[in-house]
Amino acid sequence: AQAAEDMRPQVGDFLVRTRGEPNPLGPDDVGIGKKPIQAYAMAPDGTVRSGDYENGLLLIHYDEGDLADDAKKMSANGVLAYSIICTHAGCEATNWISEENTIECPCHGSHFDAKNNGAVLFGPASRKLPQLGLEVKDGKIVVAAEFDSRVGGDETM
Ligand code: FES
Repeated sequence: AQAAEDMRPQVGDFLVRTRGEPNPLGPDDVGIGKKPIQAYAMAPDGTVRSGDYENGLLLIHYDEGDLADDAKKMSANGVLAYSIICTHAGCEATNWISEENTIECPCHGSHFDAKNNGAVLFGPASRKLPQLGLEVKDGKIVVAAEFDSRVGGDETM
């Protein structure tokens, strides 16, 4: 069986920062319009799912009214979680272009639309970034649905 720390985020997991104390994040911990923060899922028993590098998440917060419908449905009061793994060849897509609401992959320059479900805006990636379903429970962000598409790169470079 797969170790709990290697598993993809599971429904009911909390989200925690990748560094520092693993405290469950609430919507207000993710600043509206601020640089995305990197996070992992944490099982209710406190196991942080950091064992697989493809488990990394990027959290971004918007006013709900600014989001496309699909993105909004999967958000927790406007907080969105995307896989950090570029769908092109699996680099970590961590660059943030705030004025364009765009996540950029540093490897070959793919751009993904943060407000619109991770849609590809530009570059060699042929699939959107997977988005993870979130909700708020007792003031904390929890996973409400699995990723809406496959996590990982399509090509090996
Ligand atoms: Fe991201 Fe190639 S791996 S653009």
